[in-house]
Amino acid sequence: MRIRMVGSGYVGLVSGACFADFGHDVVCIDKDQSKIDALLDGRMPIYEPGLDELVGRNVAAGRLRFSTDLSESVRDADAIFIAVGTPSRRGDGHADLSYVYAAAKEIAGAITGFTVIVDKSTVPVGTGDEVERIIREASPDADFAVVSNPEFLREGAAIDDFKRPDRVVVGGDDERAMEVMRQIYRPLTLNRSLVIEMSRRAAELTKYAGNAFLATKITFINEIADLCEKVGADVQDVARGIGLDNRIGSKFLHAGPGYGGSCFPKDTLALLKTAQDHDAPQRIVEAVVNVNDNRKRAMGRKVIAAMGGDVRGKTVAILGLTFKPNTDDMRDSPAIAVIQTLQDAGATVRAFDPEGTEQAKKVLDNVEYCAGPYEAIEGSDAVAIVTEWDAFRALDLARVKSLLSAPIMVDMRNIYPRDMIEKAGFTYHAVGR
Ligand code: UDX
Repeated sequence: MRIRMVGSGYVGLVSGACFADFGHDVVCIDKDQSKIDALLDGRMPIYEPGLDELVGRNVAAGRLRFSTDLSESVRDADAIFIAVGTPSRRGDGHADLSYVYAAAKEIAGAITGFTVIVDKSTVPVGTGDEVERIIREASPDADFAVVSNPEFLREGAAIDDFKRPDRVVVGGDDERAMEVMRQIYRPLTLNRSLVIEMSRRAAELTKYAGNAFLATKITFINEIADLCEKVGADVQDVARGIGLDNRIGSKFLHAGPGYGGSCFPKDTLALLKTAQDHDAPQRIVEAVVNVNDNRKRAMGRKVIAAMGGDVRGKTVAILGLTFKPNTDDMRDSPAIAVIQTLQDAGATVRAFDPEGTEQAKKVLDNVEYCAGPYEAIEGSDAVAIVTEWDAFRALDLARVKSLLSAPIMVDMRNIYPRDMIEKAGFTYHAVGR
């Protein structure tokens, strides 16, 4: 199949490279010349484990190419995936669809023969209808069908998630288009992954409902963690205790500083807007959004409390800045609110992150960025683990203790056993334990 990816960001680039690895002929397109230049040069614009090797292998095999020229590239395509960004619109939280619609307009003038237009970007219900209308209006004679095919991959595990998904969702009602989609995903069905077909609107909503549900699950266990702290229970026991019930499932029950990232915060807000527009309020998701927003600063206050209630003139070492490990993504990372809360209270922050420092510098001022965990800890009055990078799981505790002015550890990801840290002479503050 000749597949063209419009937008070479996280989703577009990973999906494009994986499709090429399945043997399809793929061109990843982006307006950003510097991004395409970097890719042509073998440099990845994002940090994602295994991506450079995957891209390199498929470029060498001639199955994966890059271009800034949309019109030229999409001619003769079997399927054109729209995988451009849909950020929150400033002001009202609605998903900003201007990039999607602009792509649709450009595609309209360039397609030849029957072409499937695939909405891969996370877009509100009804966007497929609008994309169809835009293309029809711009090119009344074009032979095309629009389908929705939301992407569920996680950053940091993107390639594996794409290649071994729990399910693939395809929404549309044009039989020719659905057959093209079946062929595109055939390598996955051979792998026994489930490709489920539904209406376009159901597929669009599935993506938002899925992310909102996962955000709810995390937020639920986070509040249970707060209760655990008050009643003297361990949230990890409770999570295991409920997670083994198949109806609940054990994933996404790790208590922590609140969810962040490029999807959950944005998609929950967009779902609330859609719900408002259709007079079907989503009160549970509303509560989730509020609880999660408050939690991030509360985690900063947790550090302050651990340090005796007053951090003026004190220094805190922050380990981990990205919203989760194995990414350099800082979008809506809890570390931002934690650090700002500490700074507002008069603390100095020294921080280390294995991959996120460059991105962090763009959103956090007045942080002393250090070259390693021990450099950040040296001379600090407490250490807080905010992101669970593997590099922080086996710290030399004796060394940490000797470098800190006071042996205080706040472990927001529960990566250490309490007795181990206490035996090493620290006061240990975890989440929900
Ligand atoms: C998420 C969805 O998982 C994915 O299906 C969708 O396509 C995009 O959004 P991603 O944002 O990459 O993926 O990260 P994910 O691993 O889901 O984590 C999101 C946030 O939740 C992180 O901040 C993470 O630390 C937090 N989280 C996750 C928890 O606090 N506890 C958990 O148990 C799981």
